Amino acid sequence: MGGYGDVQCIDENGMRLDGRTKDEVRPVSIETGVVPVADGSARIRWGLNDCIAAVYGPMEAHPRKIQRQDRAVLDVRYNMAPFSTTDRIRPGFNRRSREISKVTAEALESVVLTELYPRSKIRVEIEIICAEAGTRCAGITAASVALAHAGIPMTDMVVSVASGKVHDIVVCDLNKEEDNYGEADLPMGILPNTGELVFLQMDGDLSPEQFQQAWDYNMEAAEVIHKEMVRALKGGDE
Ligand code: CDP
Repeated sequence: MGGYGDVQCIDENGMRLDGRTKDEVRPVSIETGVVPVADGSARIRWGLNDCIAAVYGPMEAHPRKIQRQDRAVLDVRYNMAPFSTTDRIRPGFNRRSREISKVTAEALESVVLTELYPRSKIRVEIEIICAEAGTRCAGITAASVALAHAGIPMTDMVVSVASGKVHDIVVCDLNKEEDNYGEADLPMGILPNTGELVFLQMDGDLSPEQFQQAWDYNMEAAEVIHKEMVRALKGGDE
């Protein structure tokens, strides 16, 4: 969120650098079963983002100190591959990946019926292959599909998307330049069946009207993405 005035992300006709209008979501496609050894898996291509999520379990939780007597724990690991951005990412956990893993686990715990699996662990691995902003959203969305693909009972799937503000204009589903040079970013995790939120982060400043607009864009984008999630799950692995 630089707010640098010298990078023009939207032209005088309201067109964005990737050719979208301000209310358009990037193209999204999802496939399931991409990691055959996993219990469930999904790959999401979203604009230039490319992300794989794999689910293992439920299994006995180890070490025992992480066990919960009344429910399963979600062991989520978000990771950006070293080659996923132009600057090589140092392999291993860092502060950002820990934070994203934590918020992802909390969002998914809101929908997974963890009480059905006491003392168990469900392992969720999220790997970003190519990053173009909104990777936490791509990860949460892919993980939701992978959990469903694994047959884990859930009340709903979480659809995550981030709209924000660039040059004082609210735009749907930020791309990399907009994320870097824009003034605000509002990632949300939405339950499409009820419109409830299970995750919200905000970076930068939005007026109440701009916040409402970004919120509305996220809600609209979530409907589009949810359709693709359902299509991927019904369409199967072939
Ligand atoms: O990816 P997301 O928008 O959820 O998180 P972010 O921390 O706001 O990062 C925005 C974008 O910056 C990422 O999607 C990557 O494209 C890029 N990035 C990077 O190039 N190197 C990093 N170490 C972290 C992020």
